[in-house]
Formats: sequence, C-alpha cells, structure tokens
Amino acid sequence: MCGQCLPLLLPKGKTMAHVAPASYSIPQKALHWVMALLILFNLIFSDAMEEVAEAYERGEVPSPDDLTFANIHAYVGIALLCLGLVRLVIRFTRGAPPAPAEEPPVLALAAKLAHGTFYALFFLIPLSGIGAYYFGNETAGFVHGGPLKSLMWLLIAVHILALLIHQFYWKTPVATRMTRG
Ligand code: HEM
Ligand code: HEM
Repeated sequence: MCGQCLPLLLPKGKTMAHVAPASYSIPQKALHWVMALLILFNLIFSDAMEEVAEAYERGEVPSPDDLTFANIHAYVGIALLCLGLVRLVIRFTRGAPPAPAEEPPVLALAAKLAHGTFYALFFLIPLSGIGAYYFGNETAGFVHGGPLKSLMWLLIAVHILALLIHQFYWKTPVATRMTRG
C-alpha cells in the first residue's frame, strides 16, 4: 500500500481508495519545471530542425551545423518523452491536490481537461517528431509542427492566464502549489 492510500471498507471489504494529497510532491514540482523549460526550448529553437526537414524534402544534404542543432532538438524531445512517462506514472500513483474549494465546478473541470491535454501532448508531440525525423513520415511532420505545436502554445497561454486570474482576481494562491505550496 502506498503512503497516500487509505484503506476504506467498501461493500466487499477488500478494496482501497486513494485520498488526494494536500500538495504536489518535490519530484512532481521538479518535473513540472524541468519539462516546462525543455518544452519552451524546443518550441522556440526549432529553426535548424525545419531547415533539415526542408533540405531532405528538396533532396539536398543539410549543413553540419543545422544537423547538430536538429539532433539537439530530437534528443531534448526524446528526453521529454521519457520524463513525461515518469511524470504520468507519479501522477497516477500519487495523484494531485484537489481544486481550490472556491473554484466553480465547471472551471475545475476545465483545468482537469487542460492538464489532461498537456499530458497527451507530452507523448503526441515527441512521437510525431520521431515519426517525421527517423521514419520520414510527412504527415507526422505536418501534425508535429502544425496543429500539435499550436495546441501546445495555446494551452501554455491559457494555463498562465488562468493562474493570473486565480492569483489577482479570485485571490486564490494556486500559483504557489508548484513552488513552496
Ligand atoms: C516536446 C517535444 C518537442 C517540441 C515542443 C517540438 C517542437 C517543434 C517545433 C516548434 C517545430 C517547428 C515547427 C514549425 O514551426 O514549422 C518542430 C519541428 C520538428 N521537430 Fe520537433 N519538437 C519536439 C520533439 C521532437 C522530437 C523528439 C523529434 C524527433 C526525434 C522532433 C522532430 C522534429 C522535426 C523532424 C521537425 C520538422 C517538421 C517539419 O517541418 O516537417 N521534434 N518541433
Ligand atoms: C511549457 C510550460 C508548462 C507546461 C507544459 C505546464 C504543465 C502543467 C501541468 C500538466 C500541470 C498539472 C499538474 C500535473 O498534474 O502535473 C501544471 C500545473 C501547474 N502549473 Fe504549469 N505548465 C507550464 C508552465 C507553467 C508556468 C510558466 C507556470 C507559472 C507561471 C506554471 C504554474 C503551474 C502551477 C502553479 C500549477 C498547479 C496548478 C493546480 O494545481 O491547479 N506552469 N502545469
């Protein structure tokens, strides 16, 4: 039984139920910030990867510099895929603190949906990138650099906006849940 489990006597007298933790654990916080930095790095520094993809499409050999930076993009992305897997396992086994009591249920649901979509992107973006880079799949390349990339930027913007609204309009200290909270 994990530290977060509380044995509850359910009808058949055998099952356990998880109780939501009061805060994110240190590994959860560390993963959040390391992944946020690496995701922003790959979102911002992708020019060399695009140059390489275009060179291959034209049947040309990419420059060694572009190849080096494209490989850095690929390795950072593969590291993110592994970190995402660890994060998902922790998220399922340990859980997350409940939404603030003041939050209207519809917004708590919206936050759940947004976080779930983030998790889906942690896998879909690197996997489509691998499909494009290592297997030459053009559709994967289009989905990776088109809709999935745009969805990630949109979610990040909404995520930060939601935190600002919590902090300054509703005055609920949600922002500290990923720092000292
Ligand atoms: C979370 C991780 C990743 C993020 C955030 C990310 C982000 C990006 C971005 C922003 C672009 C430029 C798209 C554009 O504006 O046209 C791009 C292109 C690309 N990335 Fe990634 N990437 C990630 C992981 C990977 C991985 C793991 C690989 C391969 C191993 C990869 C391979 C590619 C390729 C081949 C392109 C060019 C696609 C094309 O234009 O056909 N990416 N990526
Ligand atoms: C690439 C950027 C980011 C991504 C992908 C991201 C992703 C996530 C995800 C998936 C969660 C849900 C917690 C979990 O289950 O892991 C979360 C929570 C959180 N994030 Fe981010 N985040 C990013 C940037 C930021 C930034 C810049 C801030 C601060 C300004 C921030 C502050 C928080 C806070 C305070 C929470 C806790 C919210 C709550 O418990 O309701 N995040 N983030």
